[in-house]
Amino acid sequence: MKCDLAGKVSLVTGAARGIGKAIADRLAANGSDVYYTDRDIDEVRAAAAGRRWLRLDVTNADDLAAARQRVEAEGGRLDILVNNAGVNTLAHRVPFDQFPRAEWDRIVAVDLTAVYEVSRTFATLMRRQGSGRIINIASVVGMVPLRLQCAYVAAKAGVVNLTRGMALELGADGILVNGIAPGSTLTDGTRKLFYGEDGLFRESAQRMLDHVPLGRPAEVDEIAVAAIFLADPENTYMTGHVLVVDGGWTAGYSREF
Ligand code: NAI
Repeated sequence: MKCDLAGKVSLVTGAARGIGKAIADRLAANGSDVYYTDRDIDEVRAAAAGRRWLRLDVTNADDLAAARQRVEAEGGRLDILVNNAGVNTLAHRVPFDQFPRAEWDRIVAVDLTAVYEVSRTFATLMRRQGSGRIINIASVVGMVPLRLQCAYVAAKAGVVNLTRGMALELGADGILVNGIAPGSTLTDGTRKLFYGEDGLFRESAQRMLDHVPLGRPAEVDEIAVAAIFLADPENTYMTGHVLVVDGGWTAGYSREF
């Protein structure tokens, strides 16, 4: 998917790897001047490959203030904000009443509270311009929850409805706010959950993929094209929408009765 983002300034959180890097790369490939941001400095510098980068732990108020100052100092506009940074836990796949409170706080802080903090920090620039796009990366589990992931499913459901709420409030300022709800997506972190040493799907992955009509997880670029669609200057009447990109997972129950 191609669009003309020449002259548009973008900022992507969690852009050191995975979906965030794929989105940042696609924005750059379409002509946008992109700030790659992440809490991991060495990785984000490498990911940016000579483009702009900055350290931004989305839960850190000082980092956020510094990021805003940097954008102000380097032209003062931001056209596209992608709230992508996110965390989950594999170590605590337990019923909600046994879920550690500290893990709940950590996950909600990154996956939900930071979306609000980063958005309100940069929405002021967009308001001044009278235009902007905010793209929030939610998850299908924010629409249809999975068991044993209470903090993540709650935070991502919050992102879905925060996206709609922000769209209501920012529309009059020319700012479009949309989201993407990816299904299972292959990244360095998730690839080993899907594939065994033999290169075949693990049994647990196959059980999950039985519910996905396309029968496979997404590649990060398949999520990034949805972000380009939402960022496209020609896509002017969509706001408050969350695009589900899940290989059909949530389209319905895909097995025979
Ligand atoms: P990833 O773990 O590969 O990359 C996430 C990036 O966010 C990392 O570079 C990490 O350093 C950064 N990050 C984490 N905490 C941060 C913080 N406090 N401040 C700044 N950066 C931080 O993750 P992936 O899979 O690329 O996920 C990206 C987004 O997509 C997340 O919001 C995730 O919840 C969402 N998602 C991912 C799915 C998947 O199957 N991979 C499915 C559905 C949603």
